[in-house]
Amino acid sequence: MEIIVKDTVDEASAIVAEILLRQVEEKPDCALGLPTGATPLGVYARLIEDFRNGCGCYNRAHAFNLDEYLGIPGTDTASYAFYMRENLFRHIDFMQRNIHIPDGSAADASAEATRYETQIAARGGIDLMFLGLGRNAHIGFNEPGSPHDTRTRRVALTASTMEANARYFAPGSRQPTHAITMGIGTILESRRIVVLATGIEKASAVAASLAGPMTDAVPGSALARHAHTTIVLDRDAAHELDRILALEIDA
Ligand code: GLP
Repeated sequence: MEIIVKDTVDEASAIVAEILLRQVEEKPDCALGLPTGATPLGVYARLIEDFRNGCGCYNRAHAFNLDEYLGIPGTDTASYAFYMRENLFRHIDFMQRNIHIPDGSAADASAEATRYETQIAARGGIDLMFLGLGRNAHIGFNEPGSPHDTRTRRVALTASTMEANARYFAPGSRQPTHAITMGIGTILESRRIVVLATGIEKASAVAASLAGPMTDAVPGSALARHAHTTIVLDRDAAHELDRILALEIDA
């Protein structure tokens, strides 16, 4: 596992954007796994800026979103489909038919999860999976307790995740209690994984994921099972990592 620590969020985001860009350059028809949340925003802003400057071509690439809320349509401003459209897809040249996001309004969530798994497999799997990390070390919406071999499925969100994400919902609007997420097993089948975590509120999740025991109680600890994972942190997120002896600081 490669760990890169940068001084600022901006520098950390630049590293991840560079990794994504290199992936589409090397394999224009690659499949990218993409996350939502506040963390990736700096990365997506850079990709958009690069694209406007003539760097990056996504018209043969496929995008597979990591997760989606259940019970809200893709037109809802709090949906991840809306987030992806606004923060990335409408600014670059992804083909609509190559954008894959679980359907949060599907009547049968389990059937939708199976359909999504099949779609990923039909593309030959994910080449590069970009991940954020929840404050409780969740990856996607795989909450603590998720076995490391889980597949894409319907999950219940924990109270702490709902609280952390409440800021994305307008006051008075109904916040979903469930989601469809790629499973940890699905994520681990990606050829390469890059994780971005920034901010002091991620420091303990980072330490538990990278320096603690491998356990279902810490979804991020599953990352150590993967042979080609790059973790990109800013100094705040790396704060509690001193316990890792061989931490390679590339600042
Ligand atoms: C959400 C998403 C995760 C994301 C996490 C962190 O719950 N399902 O994929 O990594 O939040 O979000 P943020 O980057 O806003 O801290």
